[in-house]
Amino acid sequence: MVWALLLLVSQLPLAASSPQRVTGVLRKDACVCQINFSAWDFPVQEFEELLGLFQQCSESLDELKTQTNLTHIKMPLFSAAIKNITEHLSQFEYINNRGLYNPLNFRLLDYEMGDLGTQIADAHKKQALDTSTAQDLNDELSSIRLKVQNMQKYDKFNLLALREHIRKLKNRLESCRTYDKTQLDQCSKVLLSNISSPVVTQLNPYGTSYPFGAWGKESRHGSPELYWVQSLQSSNTYGITLRTYSSFEDFVMSKNHKDISVTSSYTTTYSIQGPGTVLYNESLYYNCYKSPNVCKFDLKTKTFQHVALQDAGHDNKFPYCYYSCYGTTDIDLSVDETGLWAIYATEENYGNIVISKLDSSTLAVVQTWKTKLFKKSVSNAFMVCGVLYATRYLSPKQEEVFYAFDTVTGHDTNTLSVPFEKISSDIQNLHYNPTDQRLYLFNYAYMLAYELTF
Ligand SMILES: *[C@@H]1O[C@H](CO)[C@@H](O)[C@H](O)[C@H]1NC(C)=O
Ligand SMILES: *[C@@H]1O[C@H](CO)[C@@H](O)[C@H](O)[C@H]1NC(C)=O
Ligand SMILES: *[C@@H]1O[C@H](CO)[C@@H](O)[C@H](O)[C@H]1NC(C)=O
Ligand SMILES: *[C@@H]1O[C@H](CO)[C@@H](O)[C@H](O)[C@H]1NC(C)=O
Ligand SMILES: *[C@@H]1O[C@H](CO)[C@@H](O)[C@H](O)[C@H]1NC(C)=O
Repeated sequence: MVWALLLLVSQLPLAASSPQRVTGVLRKDACVCQINFSAWDFPVQEFEELLGLFQQCSESLDELKTQTNLTHIKMPLFSAAIKNITEHLSQFEYINNRGLYNPLNFRLLDYEMGDLGTQIADAHKKQALDTSTAQDLNDELSSIRLKVQNMQKYDKFNLLALREHIRKLKNRLESCRTYDKTQLDQCSKVLLSNISSPVVTQLNPYGTSYPFGAWGKESRHGSPELYWVQSLQSSNTYGITLRTYSSFEDFVMSKNHKDISVTSSYTTTYSIQGPGTVLYNESLYYNCYKSPNVCKFDLKTKTFQHVALQDAGHDNKFPYCYYSCYGTTDIDLSVDETGLWAIYATEENYGNIVISKLDSSTLAVVQTWKTKLFKKSVSNAFMVCGVLYATRYLSPKQEEVFYAFDTVTGHDTNTLSVPFEKISSDIQNLHYNPTDQRLYLFNYAYMLAYELTF
């Protein structure tokens, strides 16, 4: 069906303007023609067969990837889930109200399906899909193409369902493709189950006059153990300096700090914007000045790199929110056992969270998954072991991890309930550190850290 609609899209204008000849019978005062509508029915069966093939693809890959049992354990009942179309329809309501979502937006569907086709070809080329599966897909595609030549009928419901199917298929494909899952060997095979009381609680070194920013510890094993504070000192939004401490003791005592100048002005291309920052492998990764870009500042060479995240909302378009939104939290960087991630949202995904795996050396976007979690409905998010976790507000002093999206399986759940304490309701930065398995929170001038249990 994926392919069917692609065809439909490209053929619709033609079909509409060239009527078909049907034979009829001339009665007394009328001409009666019989039209066979069944040829125009939505080819549900073909679509399900196509889904079956994707499932096959995942299953055969699972066998290959015995190094991690995560996939086996949480392999979702894909076909069951896709029948559950109405489950998150409320997600679409906002979009409808905002005029962002138009079920008849064929151009976008056309683009998405073309893209999916390219990805399948690409996955095959990179041997993430074996030849026979790819061949099956192509055969199926050809036969569907033939069958839908005459399809001119559709309805809104099918299009909505189709959109959701496409999103899931794309995620499945992303999960089939290679990213170094051997790095997940060190991971627990289950989801986060508990967050400790804060093990660090400290006012940031600039005090309450600068309540916005981020803090943490160098996120790569083997790099010098630096504790860092990134304060947003212009309009609570822009930063130019990174403060570092070379030991936990210095950090706790607020002594022997080193200030590293990133840019000399708050308003240059590479100035730091918002609190999405993380320090990894002696480079600072952050959202940069008034752009959808991720910037990288190498602390050793003092050089910059940047990459634009395609279609990423920025400058308070899709920040994290509770009642009010947390300023310029649009693009959030995170590091887990597998490396660097960007968490953001796009209009194309209706403001829902999108996760991209980035190559930390080149900043190239390696892979992208699309969730159906509306970014403005969560207070923050972070990656652990290839799983995105999102938080929400419970009370002025409590936050809760309630959602997880596993990039290995493409499966998500919103039934987690892992609460943790906070000092203020204003959450700026929350990220996991794979070197000590702690969670770091910058919470309106306060710096907190937690131990995690899986
Ligand atoms: C209607 O079209 C379908 C598919 O092309 C075909 O199998 C079926 O026999 C047709 N029915 C009639 C009554 O012509
Ligand atoms: C992983 O799976 C294999 C076979 O499915 C099983 O023998 C093994 O005990 C599993 N390991 C863990 C840690 O669950
Ligand atoms: C389908 O949705 C309902 C309610 O939204 C939920 O309770 C159920 O678990 C879902 N089933 C599947 C297979 O996802
Ligand atoms: C879970 O964390 C809470 C603090 O948030 C702590 O009081 C509780 O003892 C922890 N439970 C377990 C089982 O570790
Ligand atoms: C860390 O950075 C160095 C260059 O400074 C690079 O050669 C190396 O590949 C990086 N390691 C990781 C894991 O990104």
